Amino acid sequence: MNQVPEHVAIILDGNGRWAKSKGMPRNYGHTMGAKNVETICRACHNMGIRYLTVYAFSTENWKRPDDEVKAIMKLLKSYLKTCFTLAKDNDMCVRVLGDLDGLDPDMRDTILRLEEETKDYGGLHFQIALNYGSRDEIVRAVRRMEKDREAGLATGDITEEMLASYLDTKGIPDPDLLIRTSGEERLSNFLLWQCAYTEFYFTDVHWPAFNEEELKKAVESYGERNRRYGGV
Ligand code: FPP
Repeated sequence: MNQVPEHVAIILDGNGRWAKSKGMPRNYGHTMGAKNVETICRACHNMGIRYLTVYAFSTENWKRPDDEVKAIMKLLKSYLKTCFTLAKDNDMCVRVLGDLDGLDPDMRDTILRLEEETKDYGGLHFQIALNYGSRDEIVRAVRRMEKDREAGLATGDITEEMLASYLDTKGIPDPDLLIRTSGEERLSNFLLWQCAYTEFYFTDVHWPAFNEEELKKAVESYGERNRRYGGV
């Protein structure tokens, strides 16, 4: 295998279309999409990818029909609960990116416990973007900086590194490779600041069908580009 990216970010798309293609309801697509997250975590770990970030639920996703939002939240809650064992078995440090204040208290509590319990696992750093929007993340960062201004932060202290340290991704290297499944070729408010130099890979494969082999294709394509352009 060519050069392996240190950080892969994925926009999970196509659960609904995948389910439709099988004559099944959308929520079946979400269930299988959630299962596939486990598969890809293991595959990343096996391939030596150190950081994986997935876009699980955006600030925009609340606009979906009520029933669908409820079903997705139920699925995510149950996933977070199983994540304690998954993280232990796969040496995975889990972090959630996004506005936790917009989530229900029970879910927030699970997330905080999960982050605390897994913080010393170093095999794979797994970030789940949940109630996440990049513009919202930047606004929240600026608000926190504004608070620190009262505590003495000066305009001249503000640098790119400093601003980055106020983002949800503090301490996490920028993605080397961003994958979007299911045919759309846009960023949809995901990691706008962090993807300034990231390579993009788009595939028509729907998320639940994006298996280890598909991940390898994306990584190969990244390796070839890096060889050609020297990774600048
Ligand atoms: C993508 O397909 C679906 C989402 C982004 C919402 C929910 C995500 C999951 C259930 C994946 C689980 C994630 C984790 C971390 C367990 P879509 O509904 O946008 O598909 P469509 O474009 O075909 O309608």
